[in-house]
Amino acid sequence: MNAHHDIFFGSLIEGHFDQLLERYSDSKKVIFTDETVFELWMEDLLTHHPLLHDAEIIQVPPGEENKVIEICHQVWHALSEYEIARNDLIINFGGGVITDMGGFIASTYKRGIDFINIPTTLLSQVDASVGGKTGVDLGGYKNQIGVFADPVAVFIDTKYHSTLPEDEIKSGFAEMLKHGLIQDAHHWSNLKVKINELDDGVSTALIRDSVYIKKSIVEKDPQEKGLRKLLNLGHTIGHGVEGTRLIAGEPIPHGFGVAWGILVEAAIAHEQDLLSQKAFSEIQALIQENYPTPSLSENDILSIMALIKNDKKNRGHELNFTLLKSIGEAVFDQVVPTKTVEACLRRIMQ
Ligand SMILES: NC(=O)c1ccc[n+]([C@@H]2O[C@H](COP(=O)([O-])OP(=O)(O)OC[C@H]3O[C@@H](n4cnc5c(N)ncnc54)[C@H](O)[C@@H]3O)[C@@H](O)[C@H]2O)c1
Repeated sequence: MNAHHDIFFGSLIEGHFDQLLERYSDSKKVIFTDETVFELWMEDLLTHHPLLHDAEIIQVPPGEENKVIEICHQVWHALSEYEIARNDLIINFGGGVITDMGGFIASTYKRGIDFINIPTTLLSQVDASVGGKTGVDLGGYKNQIGVFADPVAVFIDTKYHSTLPEDEIKSGFAEMLKHGLIQDAHHWSNLKVKINELDDGVSTALIRDSVYIKKSIVEKDPQEKGLRKLLNLGHTIGHGVEGTRLIAGEPIPHGFGVAWGILVEAAIAHEQDLLSQKAFSEIQALIQENYPTPSLSENDILSIMALIKNDKKNRGHELNFTLLKSIGEAVFDQVVPTKTVEACLRRIMQ
């Protein structure tokens, strides 16, 4: 894993996508997508890129509940039936579920074949499709099975935003807020203005800023030995909330879990004397205004705590967090007592 995949911003039609496809002119191509993206965007993709006319298309039902090994199993079978070989190409066309699962499928099939990501949600453009983490969930445990594997290239085209529901834009925006919070106060300030104008769309420039923050961290630490843990801000609590809703059969957009996770973890950072009251209040106001917190039941709290205790980011029995020191600066490997975590979770979300 070298974390050096090419990322192209701008129109897929005018850009490097067709040039890259030329390189695979002797290879079979498979487009992996979900049913929603198929309905909305497959015709557009095939119409504008004649080199894909003979591609096989594999579509799966949409949603986090389908990011599971059973679906991978079916897709691996389909690839075998299509006689896909080591020199062939998979194009992952969809949101983070498709790029996570498609990357995992491609990188394990025949010990790894090339794949390209065309992310179609804001969330997958700013986060999931870049950085080389691929995988699937296991029960309520997010991304429990997976490998690090880089796509050959990622193509980020904002035209796909035109069909995204508002909540999906907000979901992706939460990961952008995370990027600002962990490393770039200026990006956070820009996003604070932009969050009130999401109807006008999110610009390529803002997306690029977010992607470059992630990219710069991943290039220094591709396999999350240290620095990359910064990107986990909001995700310990966030994955707990998301996993709990998944088990209950009521999945939430990933970014909403992240937003609530950022808020609870900011409360923890304040409680641990890392983050000032002023910075905490600024984060709290922005999150609560844009991602209204649900009031969780006692069962939800217990379920979230159980998931957090088995989080793969922990060391042994210690709960391990990435926490904010200020807006634009975070620290990783912060051990927090269980009772502090539970108290903050209850205070913010019950
Ligand atoms: N690998 C990583 O580094 C990383 C980082 C962040 C998140 N993730 C993962 O990404 C996933 C979340 O990604 P997501 O929010 O994109 O989820 P998703 O793939 O489920 O997409 C959300 C919904 O939007 C629909 N959709 C996709 N593109 C659309 C379009 N252009 N117009 C209308 N609808 C569209 C999908 O069908 C789906 O219903 C989670 O599984 C999360 O764990 C991975």
